[in-house]
Amino acid sequence: MDGLSRRKMLVTGGTLGAIGALAAASPARARSVWTWSPSASVAGTGAGVDPEWVWDEEADPVLASVIDRGDVPRVNTLLKRWTRNDQPLPDGLPADLKEFMEHARQMPPWADKGKLDRAAQFSKTKGIYVGALYGLGSGLMSTAIPREARAVYYSKGGADMKDRIAKTARLGYDIGDLDAYLPQGSMIVTAVKTRMVHAAVRHLLPQSPGWSQTSGGQKIPISQADIMVTWHSLATFVMRRMKEWGVRVNAADSEAYLHVWQVSAHMLGVSDEYIPASWDAANAQSKQVLDPILAHSPEGEALTNVLLGIVAELDAGLTRPLISAFTRYTLGGEVGDMIGLSRQPILEKLISTAWPLLVAFREGLIPLPAVPAVLWTLEEALRKFILLFLAEGRPIAIDIPDVNRPS
Ligand code: HEM
Repeated sequence: MDGLSRRKMLVTGGTLGAIGALAAASPARARSVWTWSPSASVAGTGAGVDPEWVWDEEADPVLASVIDRGDVPRVNTLLKRWTRNDQPLPDGLPADLKEFMEHARQMPPWADKGKLDRAAQFSKTKGIYVGALYGLGSGLMSTAIPREARAVYYSKGGADMKDRIAKTARLGYDIGDLDAYLPQGSMIVTAVKTRMVHAAVRHLLPQSPGWSQTSGGQKIPISQADIMVTWHSLATFVMRRMKEWGVRVNAADSEAYLHVWQVSAHMLGVSDEYIPASWDAANAQSKQVLDPILAHSPEGEALTNVLLGIVAELDAGLTRPLISAFTRYTLGGEVGDMIGLSRQPILEKLISTAWPLLVAFREGLIPLPAVPAVLWTLEEALRKFILLFLAEGRPIAIDIPDVNRPS
């Protein structure tokens, strides 16, 4: 990161303490009552308990104990060697953690290899849309999810927000890797490590004064409802927008894409009774858990600046108005306002007219359209962003934290 954006981050960080108290006092948007039925889930049945009150009863006690025993540095060193799905766990891991991980690395019995392969092919052929939607759509939407923004901001990784924010968007992108869940791939490893990081965060964040003062009464972060909120900001949102843009998605591809995300939710520790079995069920759940909670938070705004700063780094800021306009088009003006994206009326109008034409051309539906040159600049900027931001240095190196963000 260059000096300018680092300074910007520090300035934004400095103002947070002051406005954090205000944010804590302002009413949070109400969450809907949980009425989503487990009959619409991959399990097809379940107790129907509100996932707001469910965390991860297998991972949480184990990771709390690993942290309290002071085992985290040793475990992180050992885990660096565990990178492939088919690799045995490294020798020397604490017995309780090893037992948990052996269980957690098992794919669900309902995982379907054919669908996973198809999903990978689909994500590859639709690379530019999927990448742009994860990076600029889901990535920026996460800053309008106050609980996620705050958890990220006050946890250890919040000290390097660029790295942190890149990792969640990258996980979405990596799910589309051709060998993600194959023996030589790394998604099982990434998901199990992420599940352990989330469990560690549940133990650590309640000890953070910054988080406790802004958590709106939540005592333990990252509930299963919270995970599904983020899941919808990735999977449900991306599928919905691709269809709206006129990207060709046949029924088998759509089902395969859903499947890879169902498997990923399971691997992240979400109970099967909360994982939607169909897109209809996903859309209904998204309406209940995601739509009502989108809101502005100072932590979210700080994260937005970091993410847009990354894009600006690619071309010295030239396309920032263009990227703002594209993101407003992608997320909608309301969310754009929430996260503090600058309004670009002329560019927004231009993009909303010309982008669907560009998509139709890329999908082979129409001949080369007469679109303003700025659209090709936008497409080029998106490609560059995807290449540098999402594809750099895989696989993601994930460490279990043992402290919060130093205040
Ligand atoms: C860590 C992905 C849901 C908060 C991570 C990491 C990944 C990830 C890949 C590891 C990155 C690293 O090592 O820094 C996901 C995915 C989710 C999800 C795919 C849902 C589908 C959530 C939710 C919250 C959250 C709902 C909070 C409400 C965090 C925090 C960290 C983390 C605080 C640790 C950052 C640190 O290192 O300090 N997540 N996450 N995540 N996630 Fe999530």
